[in-house]
Amino acid sequence: MIYLDHAATTKPLPIALKTYQDVAKQYFANPASPHHVGEVADDLISQAKTIFTDYFHIPPDGIIFTSGGTESNHLILDLVLHQFNGEPIHIITSTVEHASLYDTCQLLEQQGRLSVTYITPAKNGQITKQQLIDAVRPDTKLVTIQLINSETGISQDNEMISEFCKDHQLLFHTDAVQAFGKQKLSTTFNYVDALSLSAHKIHGLKGIGALLLKQPKEWRAPFQSKTQGGFRQGTIDAGLIASFAACVNDYITHESKRLNRLMELRQYVVNQLKHEQLPISVIGEAHVTSPIIGCLSTSSHGDYIQQALNRKQIYVSTRSACHSKTTGEIRSLTPLYPTEQHQHYFRISIGYFTSKSEIDATISALKTT
Ligand SMILES: Cc1ncc(COP(=O)(O)O)c(C=O)c1O
Repeated sequence: MIYLDHAATTKPLPIALKTYQDVAKQYFANPASPHHVGEVADDLISQAKTIFTDYFHIPPDGIIFTSGGTESNHLILDLVLHQFNGEPIHIITSTVEHASLYDTCQLLEQQGRLSVTYITPAKNGQITKQQLIDAVRPDTKLVTIQLINSETGISQDNEMISEFCKDHQLLFHTDAVQAFGKQKLSTTFNYVDALSLSAHKIHGLKGIGALLLKQPKEWRAPFQSKTQGGFRQGTIDAGLIASFAACVNDYITHESKRLNRLMELRQYVVNQLKHEQLPISVIGEAHVTSPIIGCLSTSSHGDYIQQALNRKQIYVSTRSACHSKTTGEIRSLTPLYPTEQHQHYFRISIGYFTSKSEIDATISALKTT
């Protein structure tokens, strides 16, 4: 098979599986238990945290392990609700956020718990400073904008957004689920206050992610419990956490090489599509620097292409949670293309271990679809 759907999920690394198994077999105790094996499990979690703290330059209590990117996005909204309880809360986000954030904002709005301004990015897919200026209000507390879009691969300018947030004394959260492993993020906390991650997008296991906080002491923890500083309840799994940290460590060790490879492969795909004169345009080509290659076919529907490739055991994607069931609209594409064109979308997302021969095979398959 040729797997080109790395934005949906990635294959777990052997180190992710081995670390999980080793820890789950030997140190399965509850890390909150006061006996020896519990303490060992707790120590393993502390060791795992150092991988994150060293890379992101945040304190250990700024790491809240969650079940994944979705929960991390939910948690930041919960923390803001708790932090400003009793005050009017307005937040600024965008229309191209992942459903875990966008839908939850809509729900909280319907429940009257906060009000939200959804910025539709400009025609190049990026949010502008003027749009932020127009959206801000006296009761704005948080700006939450993703780093890389899962469908277009377009990145947002988080330095500009951060400057805006600092000028207006607003908290800035970014959903970095698609960005981690595709962009250097070691200095991101110079810009943001909070960031969401997910392990399964960087060759880790599903069911583990994190919300990182730059200054955890500045936040009001919702719970009295000692677990995760009162930011999240529930037994934590040393095996999943150690496995996540092992993947992050593996990525950090090879970071430059992997990022260069991803960019080289992206360019190779784009060049080959052009060279073969396929009736496919690449979304936001000029300013996308991610291995997510959003494609629009001028001749076929994306579903048709996906199915044709599927029959050849080549796996790309057309659908994500961001699609509207009724209109076929893909929110991420709305700033860029009229809705009628969205059905022509499909996505090739490459990974560190994708080979040029796999890309060549995919291009030849596309020629016959
Ligand atoms: C940008 C973005 N945020 C959040 C998520 C949700 O992450 P998870 O699958 O870990 O819940 C995804 C998953 O596709 C994503 O692409």
